[in-house]
Amino acid sequence: MAEAPGAVRPTVGLLGGGVIGGGWAARYLLNGVDVILLDPAPGAVPRLEQVLSAARRALSRLTLAPLPPEGILTITDSVKTAVEGATIVHESAPERLELKQELLARASRAAAPDTLICSSTSGLLPSRLQAGMEHPERFTVAHPFNPVYLLPLVELSGGERTDPATLERAGAWLTGVGMHPLTVRAEIDGFLSDRLLEAQWREALWLVHDGVATVGEVDDALRYAPGLRMALMGPFLTYRIAGGEQGMRHFMAQFGPALQWPWSKLTDVPDLTPEFLDLLAAQSDEQAQGRSIPELERMRDDCLVALLQGLRGAGQGAGATLVEWERELMRAAAARHAPGAGTGGADEHDEARPLELVARQIPAEWIDYNGHVHESRYLQLAADADDALLARLGVDAEYLRDGGSYYTVETHLCHLGQLHAGDAVTVATHVLGGDEKRLHVFHRVMPAGAAEPAATAEQMLVHVDTTAGRAAPARGAVRDRALALIAAHAGLPIPDRAGRRIERSRS
Ligand SMILES: NC(=O)c1ccc[n+]([C@@H]2O[C@H](COP(=O)([O-])OP(=O)(O)OC[C@H]3O[C@@H](n4cnc5c(N)ncnc54)[C@H](O)[C@@H]3O)[C@@H](O)[C@H]2O)c1
Repeated sequence: MAEAPGAVRPTVGLLGGGVIGGGWAARYLLNGVDVILLDPAPGAVPRLEQVLSAARRALSRLTLAPLPPEGILTITDSVKTAVEGATIVHESAPERLELKQELLARASRAAAPDTLICSSTSGLLPSRLQAGMEHPERFTVAHPFNPVYLLPLVELSGGERTDPATLERAGAWLTGVGMHPLTVRAEIDGFLSDRLLEAQWREALWLVHDGVATVGEVDDALRYAPGLRMALMGPFLTYRIAGGEQGMRHFMAQFGPALQWPWSKLTDVPDLTPEFLDLLAAQSDEQAQGRSIPELERMRDDCLVALLQGLRGAGQGAGATLVEWERELMRAAAARHAPGAGTGGADEHDEARPLELVARQIPAEWIDYNGHVHESRYLQLAADADDALLARLGVDAEYLRDGGSYYTVETHLCHLGQLHAGDAVTVATHVLGGDEKRLHVFHRVMPAGAAEPAATAEQMLVHVDTTAGRAAPARGAVRDRALALIAAHAGLPIPDRAGRRIERSRS
């Protein structure tokens, strides 16, 4: 989330850090938001670390957009500490009405009156949850989906005493951390998604109960076709297409009567006898083929990342949310590096020293079969440094929209040392030269505490008029800052490796 320079850092209070609370923690921390978490369970912290490491892996695969520095996680055993300075609170305690009511009431007494207070409940009615709260008008259900750090949907449902402005505030806030808020118009049990999922789940149980299919066959009946389609279109758009040129009317004329037969068991539920539960558990074990829950979660996350990336290309459904989030990440990164922001401001350009604009930890997924960082990632570090440099010069969304940008036209990488998962690195950027059209830069990838770089990247960036599609001088303040920086760095000693090329072998 972007922050105005000097602004108070937003904090999120989390009550409950299990499957869902842990997912909220990961989503917020990786969006650079500080989290204070309360969970009385002894194993809560190690479990949270596992969720966080899964989320880091998933998000670093999902996007090349620069994630902000991670937020700070604080663990507390006090409801008051968790909520008193929070912008928003998410209660994700077990699904028991009295427990949630009591927790929410306590949180409402300790939090500031305008702190948003949300419950992650899967189906309890918001009017009942807010019954004992102070300032219940700032309460809403914010029902997310597992894994919260990857799936964007969050259903918002207010109770009788919820102020409609609360839903808008919550929606805007959650959009800022890459989510897709969907406000439920009426207060109903199970909201929208769980209501639909429960109808399907009931039918799935009947099919197994009646011996028509195994649990694996039911899952296959969904995942090989309807499940794939559902990521981009729900039943209404799907059946519109199925109706051909005449659309929904034709579809309903053709298949509407079948709804009266009916094919499904409607609201009947099979008796959950010990024998039926044994059957379900045995078939489920067989289906899992010995894979552990973390293994299944990793497979799930990898596939979700691939699906989200596919949808991003088509700009559909959750892919469109991803595009918006990436834009927000780029905007926030530009704001962090913009002239006058944070670490030194515009005068930093006048200082005769390399700029340190990128600092990060090497993620585990950057490691290749040789056990060290894959070569492509050095180019990524250089590109991240270029983006940060351009943001510092004032190349922002408006400048890009007006048709100005820099393109990289040449890169020379030297791989000098090995980097491993978890290593902290910074990238030091030295502008070797240039003019109003060109920036000749030299990046050093420096492991923390090391005197020598692990890699260097020398690059030529050319300013372009993107509307005309050709090189052109930089404009206005961007041009002035670029020239000032070139002049400020002109006196720095030229690095040994600058100007290197690969010599042709003479033998
Ligand atoms: N699991 C899902 O797929 C899913 C999806 C959406 C919403 N939800 C909802 O999210 C909520 C949490 O579900 P979950 O799956 O994370 O459950 P969970 O059992 O994994 O986690 C609940 C956590 O709450 C903690 N807790 C217990 N009492 C507490 C208290 N007084 N204060 C603070 N923490 C307390 C527990 O120690 C536990 O870690 C439920 O309301 C559930 O309906 C679950």
